Amino acid sequence: MAAERRRLFFALWPGATVRDRLDGLRRDTVGEGLGRPVAREKLHLTLCFLGGVDADTAACVEQAAANVAVAPFTLTFDELGYWARPQVLWLGASETPPELSELVGQLRRVQAGCGSKPEKRPFQAHLTLARKVRRRPRLPRVGPLQWPVEAFALVASQTLPTGARYEVVGRWPLSDAA
Ligand code: 2AM
Repeated sequence: MAAERRRLFFALWPGATVRDRLDGLRRDTVGEGLGRPVAREKLHLTLCFLGGVDADTAACVEQAAANVAVAPFTLTFDELGYWARPQVLWLGASETPPELSELVGQLRRVQAGCGSKPEKRPFQAHLTLARKVRRRPRLPRVGPLQWPVEAFALVASQTLPTGARYEVVGRWPLSDAA
């Protein structure tokens, strides 16, 4: 029998308040008619993509994630962007808080330490608002939206005919106490 593999990624997973604000910002700026909007309850920001991993790697990653030490921070979204190749419309932050860069760096080390290859591209914080956006849309200015980040999550994704299904499988509070 083939060993079970799960598609995993680390993410910032918004709580209800931030989720509502994100959804409201999308509605008030670009509307709901662009491409395939990401469902409100699925909005997230990917920190580190692991891809398909076996059970041992998943266990290693979960164990090591508990040792991540980064202080809580506030992420301020203040721009909309569009990438033509993946056809995504995203919400971004013109300034990356140092804690966020540190968090991504530590998670990439967790990934490498568990035998999985981290992404080489520099991290660019983006939260996908809509997929399959075939043409560059108008990108209105967005007022700052603040997200007080107090935890990070490990999420499993499944691709179904109806779209992606996400399950938060672990959650760790941010703290810089070693
Ligand atoms: P995206 O929002 O930019 O598409 C779950 O699929 C999450 O992992 C998505 O948020 C997606 O980011 C990201 N992701 C999917 N495939 C990826 C890949 N090959 N490399 C990096 N990130 C990926």
